[in-house]
Amino acid sequence: MAKRIDVSDLNIYYGNFLAVENVTVSIEPRSITALIGPSGCGKSTFLRSLNRMHEVIPGARVEGKVVMDGQDLYAPDVDPVDVRQHIGMVFQRPNPFPTMSIYDNVAAGIRLNNKKMKRADLDTLVERSLRGANLWNEVKDRLDRPGAGLSGGQQQRLCIARAIAIEPDVLLMDEPCSALDPISTLAIEDLMTELKERFTIVIVTHNMQQAARVSEQTGFFNLSGVGQPGRLIEFNSTEKIFSNPDEKATEDYISGRFG
Ligand SMILES: Nc1ncnc2c1ncn2[C@@H]1O[C@H](COP(=O)(O)OP(=O)(O)OP(=O)(O)O)[C@@H](O)[C@H]1O
Ligand SMILES: [Mg+2]
Repeated sequence: MAKRIDVSDLNIYYGNFLAVENVTVSIEPRSITALIGPSGCGKSTFLRSLNRMHEVIPGARVEGKVVMDGQDLYAPDVDPVDVRQHIGMVFQRPNPFPTMSIYDNVAAGIRLNNKKMKRADLDTLVERSLRGANLWNEVKDRLDRPGAGLSGGQQQRLCIARAIAIEPDVLLMDEPCSALDPISTLAIEDLMTELKERFTIVIVTHNMQQAARVSEQTGFFNLSGVGQPGRLIEFNSTEKIFSNPDEKATEDYISGRFG
């Protein structure tokens, strides 16, 4: 079930380095939120902080709050593994389990949640997830082959299939289409539009047209210089961001004057 996320006063650190400063934002359920901004401004860092993937990096930590439907995800009694089960993620670089078969890659998360699922039910879910990620036709005859044997774009779609297979409440996608051809890109955009009926989706993208096409809300991150923290400069409806943004920096960025 789709859930809302409320972030308040979030600072995100790598050791002593403050990478993202003071983000306060609300992410609406059953919608797509796009995050844009120049390289290094902290989009991936922010995204990983939402499902507690940030802290797997030694020395990495956050200050502030991330609340999902009233539950503080950083409260001491919350298990980060549980958070990641409910907030799925597709990474900027595809990371299938290389020696695992295509089938097992998609089934991996389901098996973790539901050890006793019947093989026929699992087959159905794997097929549905692969179809959803627009990969089924290319792999249906080699489901038992290793994930590493797929092309980069196919691996990315495999990771999308793996993420949606567990029906998370929230799906975080970090430039999911950067390695994809235009046909697969449109298929993934269609998929996102379909999925937002059930999930909350946050997508990082360098593709302005994509942000404008798929999202309801857009956040623009920026940084004032090397070594400075990234900040959320503007968060508004996508329509406003791309037609009449409040901030000049947003306008400069989307019109290609920098970044
Ligand atoms: N594992 C890490 N350890 C230390 N610093 C990091 C680490 N990952 C990212 N950073 C730093 O945090 C800042 C934000 O990086 P991040 O990857 O979040 O940017 P981004 O907006 O996603 O950029 P891109 O568009 O290139 O993907 C950068 O200064 C980066 O060098
Ligand atoms: Mg990134």
